[in-house]
Amino acid sequence: MLIRILARIFPRILLLVILLGFETARVSATERVLTLSFGGEPRRLTAAALLARPDVASLAVPDDVSYHRAMTYRAVPLLGLIEGAASGGLDTIEARASDGFVSLVPASLVKKGASGGAVAWIAVEDPAAPWPNLPGKDSGAGPFYLVWTHPERSNIGAEQWPYALEALTGVDDPVRRWPQLAVDAALPEGAPERRGQAAFLKNCMPCHMLNGAGNAEVGPDLGRPLNVTKYMTPFGIKAVIRDPKAVRTWPQQQMTGFDKANLPDADVEAIIAFLTHMASR
Ligand code: HEC
Repeated sequence: MLIRILARIFPRILLLVILLGFETARVSATERVLTLSFGGEPRRLTAAALLARPDVASLAVPDDVSYHRAMTYRAVPLLGLIEGAASGGLDTIEARASDGFVSLVPASLVKKGASGGAVAWIAVEDPAAPWPNLPGKDSGAGPFYLVWTHPERSNIGAEQWPYALEALTGVDDPVRRWPQLAVDAALPEGAPERRGQAAFLKNCMPCHMLNGAGNAEVGPDLGRPLNVTKYMTPFGIKAVIRDPKAVRTWPQQQMTGFDKANLPDADVEAIIAFLTHMASR
């Protein structure tokens, strides 16, 4: 009798043990880290390590750009994380997300947080208290998310709130890094192409490359093989920027539009002038 009972439950116990083994292997394989590379050896920080820092704070974000509502986070000031580099000649912080989104945040913006500007924080998802899914997505903004308090003080745009962060890297100025982004040096100071270059770097480069410049992997290169101004009209490009779904729709469509508050008409016109200029370079 006992042997029969044992024989019946043993395969189940075995199965349970195997499943538990898989589960722990899966968790440790996907234990997520934030890699910081600012000269010297890269630092790989886990959520636990970040949440144990003395400068971790409880942060209220009244108008979260990705969740479209008020959120509260445990967060570490970005300036505290990159202290040494920030006091040196750091130019740009490349914030790379796991979905191929890459925001290039000028270090000057982050440093201004210490003197009355918007303050950048790395919000850290506690694995024991996961964040909700983002609206319309099947994942949340974790494990790490760059958020800002008082974003209006430094005109922080929606593309400067990268979520699902996996790496922050100190890099050179984008136009020095990718000389093909440069506009004609003969263009006057206030030329729309110059304004367009800056607006493109801030708003479009996180998803799009241009003539091979940049390293985002979300949308197509807008310069190669054919520059977008050669096959879309300025009217069409403007319409895509404002609301891609007003131009064409399909289920896997990813780009979201920019409203006037986020990207004024003058910036949209300037981006189109810049893209047109790039077609002839
Ligand atoms: C969050 C990522 C993201 C951002 C930011 C973004 N785009 Fe896009 N864009 C895409 C993706 C992805 C596509 C491909 C179509 C799709 O899935 O929506 C696309 C398509 C386009 C197209 C159509 C190209 C073609 O050949 O069909 C244009 C034009 C365009 N984007 C311009 C811009 C401009 C200009 C900006 C900056 C103001 C911008 N995009 C910002 C993701 C983005």
